[in-house]
Amino acid sequence: LRTHKDAGEIERIRRATDYSVAAHLAAMKAVKPDVNEREISALMQYEWGKRGCERPAYAPIVGSGFNSTVLHYSDDSNPIKDGDVVVIDAAGEYAMYASDITRTLPASGKFTARQREIYDIVLGAQQAAVAAFRSGKSNLKRDDPDSLYKVAFEYINTHGKDKHGEPLGKYFIHGLSHYVGLNVHDDNDYTVPLGPGSVFTIEPGIYIPEESLGVRIEDILYVDKDGKLVNLTAGLPHTADEVEHAMSGKP
Ligand code: GLY
Ligand code: MN
Ligand code: MN
Repeated sequence: LRTHKDAGEIERIRRATDYSVAAHLAAMKAVKPDVNEREISALMQYEWGKRGCERPAYAPIVGSGFNSTVLHYSDDSNPIKDGDVVVIDAAGEYAMYASDITRTLPASGKFTARQREIYDIVLGAQQAAVAAFRSGKSNLKRDDPDSLYKVAFEYINTHGKDKHGEPLGKYFIHGLSHYVGLNVHDDNDYTVPLGPGSVFTIEPGIYIPEESLGVRIEDILYVDKDGKLVNLTAGLPHTADEVEHAMSGKP
């Protein structure tokens, strides 16, 4: 029952996502040097709460600088510093259904060349996984010919290098995807292919502690009745340019 969501369930996840997208857009305008991570977390909870979300779907993560490389960082207690990136993994729950969204922002409003290089590789990995998707065939296993994880890992491992000239695959330290529903990490059958009614994330990341540089981009998607992949987070900036533009406050 939980592996294939019906239209009513997808509608609840869509609303949780829409309200969380509004919160991310507010965060993009509020992130600046010297603002505390907790202020951003509080702002986001206010933004999705006033729209109808009952609670956060999970402990919000607002991690700047070195904290951007710490996977489940949720202290959210540090001042954001000029030159840092800020990983914001935060979303609300609506009518008992979760959303799950991450964006990575430059504190100053502009990515450095190195931050942008890593950002573009993470985005490229996400786009490669989306392009590889085939309804009824693709799956969320780690090691399988139809694994979306493998597509993203290969992309990351063949683009860019660390400061020692090593490939970046070893800095992609978590899975690519999980199902979302009543729980943010929803209990589902991970052995079956993705198809109509599947709701899941695609969330590649690169975390380089030595550079205090972590980037994750997490979207939530579902497969419609015709097998088409629909991005519920399409309304949020994706590219580095789009993120910088949203932070600038310009129309
Ligand atoms: N926010 C939890 C996760 O992305 O899996
Ligand atoms: Mn997730
Ligand atoms: Mn997340």
